[in-house]
Amino acid sequence: MQIIRDRDTLRNAVAALREAGGRVALVPTMGALHAGHMALIAEGKRRARAVVASIFVNPTQFGPNEDLAAYPRREATDAAMLEEAGCDLLWAPDVATMYPAGFATTVSVGGVTEGLDGAARPGHFNGVATVVTKLLNQVAPDIALFGEKDFQQLAVIRRLVADLDLPVEIVGVATERDDDGLALSSRNAYLDPAQRTAARALPRALGEAASAIERGEPVAAALALAHRRLGEAGFGPIDYVLLCDAVTLAPIDRLDDATGHEARLLAAAKLGGVRLIDNLKVAPR
Ligand code: PAF
Repeated sequence: MQIIRDRDTLRNAVAALREAGGRVALVPTMGALHAGHMALIAEGKRRARAVVASIFVNPTQFGPNEDLAAYPRREATDAAMLEEAGCDLLWAPDVATMYPAGFATTVSVGGVTEGLDGAARPGHFNGVATVVTKLLNQVAPDIALFGEKDFQQLAVIRRLVADLDLPVEIVGVATERDDDGLALSSRNAYLDPAQRTAARALPRALGEAASAIERGEPVAAALALAHRRLGEAGFGPIDYVLLCDAVTLAPIDRLDDATGHEARLLAAAKLGGVRLIDNLKVAPR
């Protein structure tokens, strides 16, 4: 697997992959790869002839008090995992290549970015939308794959691709979970053993609330119970536990308010300073 750090080499390498025929898939990541990322690579390999992964810890999507400096960086291990998984190219630009001197453009998506993490992490989705637009332009893949774990990010990327007529198919891939249900995330590495045990309360609280809502119990009561369960497990502050329309991400308080779309239960909360997010599909029975 070739590791590429400049745009000209990338362009030539992707052109060579295209000459071999078939579709090219892109899996954008910030590295610190885990089984969730490898599921994206595997799905990319099922859907395309060649898979390009990117690793770029994007400074513009971190807030001033967030974990940019501490974010795990281990490119050699990541590259070995990608090679083993049959990835064809690794695009690993540095910050000066991605944001050269004079860089002055921001891609800002409205609507779907306004609540949830958009409210809790001001500017975060501008950073994500800008870098994802650049990655899609740099690699020009036929398809790009993103995990459903970052459900709002996936909705933002679907919106920007539709709005900017970008010629790429966006594929969402189901969340990978540990045996106790915790969604895999590079940030789980920040949890100490006691916090890691307590963290299982997040998928449990969401699962309990989703089942209650699916049985027809009032949404507000189910959300309040999930909130309480998280507090009892040591989570705090709790940014949100909300039932939303899965496309617009507007909060809803009845399952049939998600007009024509699925409903999604989403939560974000801190556990000992580590911010965890998760989400589940909620379908009427
Ligand atoms: O999900 C991530 O790892 C990042 O937000 C992404 C999509 C690679 C953009 O930096």
